[in-house]
Order: sequence, then C-alpha cells, then structure tokens
Amino acid sequence: MLNTSFIQKLLIRCPILQAPMAGGPAGPELAAAVSNAGGLGNLGAGYLSPQQLSQAIRDVRLRTDRPFGVNLFVPEPFAESAEEIRQMKDRLQAYRVQFGIASAPAPSSYAESFEEQVQAVLDEQVPVCSFTFGIPSQDVIQALKRQGTVVIGTATTVQEALQLEAAEVDVIVAQGSEAGGHRGSFLNDGAEPLIGTMALVPQIADQVSLPIIAAGGIMDGRGLAASLALGASAVQMGTAFLACPESGAHPVYKQRILSAREDDTEITTVYSGKAARGIITDFMKDMRDYSGTIPPYPIQNALTRDIRQAAAKAGDPEYMSLWAGQGLRLATGRTADDIVRQTMEQAAALMARMPSM
Ligand SMILES: Cc1cc2nc3c(=O)[nH]c(=O)nc-3n(C[C@H](O)[C@H](O)[C@H](O)COP(=O)(O)O)c2cc1C
Repeated sequence: MLNTSFIQKLLIRCPILQAPMAGGPAGPELAAAVSNAGGLGNLGAGYLSPQQLSQAIRDVRLRTDRPFGVNLFVPEPFAESAEEIRQMKDRLQAYRVQFGIASAPAPSSYAESFEEQVQAVLDEQVPVCSFTFGIPSQDVIQALKRQGTVVIGTATTVQEALQLEAAEVDVIVAQGSEAGGHRGSFLNDGAEPLIGTMALVPQIADQVSLPIIAAGGIMDGRGLAASLALGASAVQMGTAFLACPESGAHPVYKQRILSAREDDTEITTVYSGKAARGIITDFMKDMRDYSGTIPPYPIQNALTRDIRQAAAKAGDPEYMSLWAGQGLRLATGRTADDIVRQTMEQAAALMARMPSM
C-alpha cells in the first residue's frame, strides 16, 4: 500500500525523507541512519565548503550503502547596503560584548561557492540532490540528471512548483508554513507566502505531474498517511529527527525541542535575513524593536554567525537559532531507525483501517 512510484524510483523502502538540515543537525550520522532504516537520509550541505561536502559524502558512504541525498542553497541575488550593515553591526555589538567576542566579522564573501558545491556532488555521484531557495540553472539540473542523480526542488506555492516542473526537476518538495527552518520561497515579492501543508500539497498535486513530497508538521504515521491521502508520494520530516541521538543538533537545542509547545515557534528573519521558523528565543524577542532594515540573506547570516557560535559554545540556547516546526510537541528522542519504522507501521495501520471508515 505504501509502495509509491517515487520510492521505487529512489530504490528506498519507505516514503520518508529526513529533511536536510544545514548547520549541524543533518550530518553523515543522521543521514546514514535514516537511509539504513529504509528512508532517504539527506545531508544539509548549504553551509559546507566543497571540501567539507566531499568529506561528508564519503562519511555517509562509510556508514551506509543505501541511497542518500545532498541539499544545497540556490544563491539568490541580494542588495548590499553599507549603511544597513553598519547599523546592524552596531546593534549586534552588545551581544558580542556579552559573549566576549573581540570584533565584528569582516566576511570577504558571504556565501559558499555554489558552483563548487555542485561540482562536489557531481564528482561524488550522489544519488539525490535537492535544492531550496530557488531553481538552479539548466546547466546544473541537466548535468546532475545526465549522471543519474535525481533532482529535487522546493516549492511553497503552486507557481513555484510550476516553474520547477518547467525547469525539469524530477520531484518537488511542497513545503508548508508549519515547516521548521528556512522558507524555500523564491517568488515572493516581499510578503512571505505562508500556505499550510494541508492546503498546499493537494493544490500542487493537482497542477503538476511530478511526484510531490509533503513537508511541514509531519511528525509520525498520521502525518504520513494524511500526506499520501493529499496526493504526496512521500514526506520530508525535519523536526521529528532533530532530537534523535544521531542528530548533530546541540544538546541544549535538543532539550528545547523536547520541552517546547506547538505555539513556541515563530517565523523570523533576524538570524539570517531570510524567513525561517524557529523556537522563540531572547534574541528574537530583543530584535523585535529593531527599527532599521535587517540586511538580506546571506549578509545577516554572516553578521550573526559568531554570536550564534559563541552562544552554542556557552550552551546558551537564547542566542542560537533553534529552527523547529509547529509539530514540535510530537518530537521524541527516539533513534532514527525507530522513527522511520514506527512512522511506517502507524501509517500502514491507519491506511488499512481507512476503507471501513
Ligand atoms: C533545523 C532545520 C534546518 C533546516 N535546514 C534546511 C536546509 O538546509 N535545506 C532545506 O531544504 N530545508 C531545510 N529545512 C526545512 C526542511 O527541509 C523541511 O521543510 C522541514 O523540516 C519540514 O518541516 P518539519 O520541520 O515540521 O518536519 C530545515 C528544517 C529544520 C527544522
């Protein structure tokens, strides 16, 4: 019953993708554990240098011979304002003092080299490559497809899904507004489209002929069964895996995940300059009265990086980014294997009961 076309294409047993979660949680250990459990593990590689990425891919391969994926951030054009940056540095100075950081960073380049990251994925012949924040060029999409890599794009609206289909990606992640982490939106004109998973998945499924992966708020077999009913071929779960022993999330981050409630998250741009959903922290509250303009991603991300790192070192979650989705009260500290297995069992039991309802 759960044997969807998509999982046959990917040679995985379960229609469960572990969300790529850049910045530490989704490293080789978690990705390999999920792939070994029969799902598709994904490396969150957006912040990795090409060398780190190649190493991480090899680390996955040392731990599993099952298919897995790599996820990259498509660079977006951004406007750099020296005045906005100066004002933000001034505002962030108090936190630098608080954490004993000597001086504000002077990043020479704000983003990782996307082309070199893609080259590492090509060189390592990764089975699946997913993208968020936009549509990669035709050169990139076709080069990956030529060598047999399945290409996945991320959409938060029907329009984005149609553009991804026209660009010939193989599969589309439909990311609802419940989702933890950064919004994958790339066609918004200032206002973030916040369509919930329940509304988004069937509308995209009706409009595109590609397989859809539902993402956002899916925490267990109930979410999987519901997503399949809505027209998805698989689900992508992030928050559900954050507190796993195999997750690379900081221990205090895991504690916060396990003790938080469904109304403890908010969408914010203060950490990175790009809208992302996370557990509300003192930093998010402090920055509510900021009257200047928050520099766009990836500038703001670079400006807050040393503060987030110092907070992590000090074990202070209030100044770390605690990305999480709205389903977080359902998060557990179970192993990745348990989560995949129990999600499958619960979904199969629910679906078996459905015809008699
Ligand atoms: C901690 C964290 C980091 C994330 N990082 C990425 C990322 O690097 N790339 C990406 O495509 N999505 C990222 N996401 C979003 C996920 O792909 C997915 O949309 C989301 O986790 C689904 O919602 P859920 O967290 O409610 O399961 C991240 C999510 C979280 C929670």
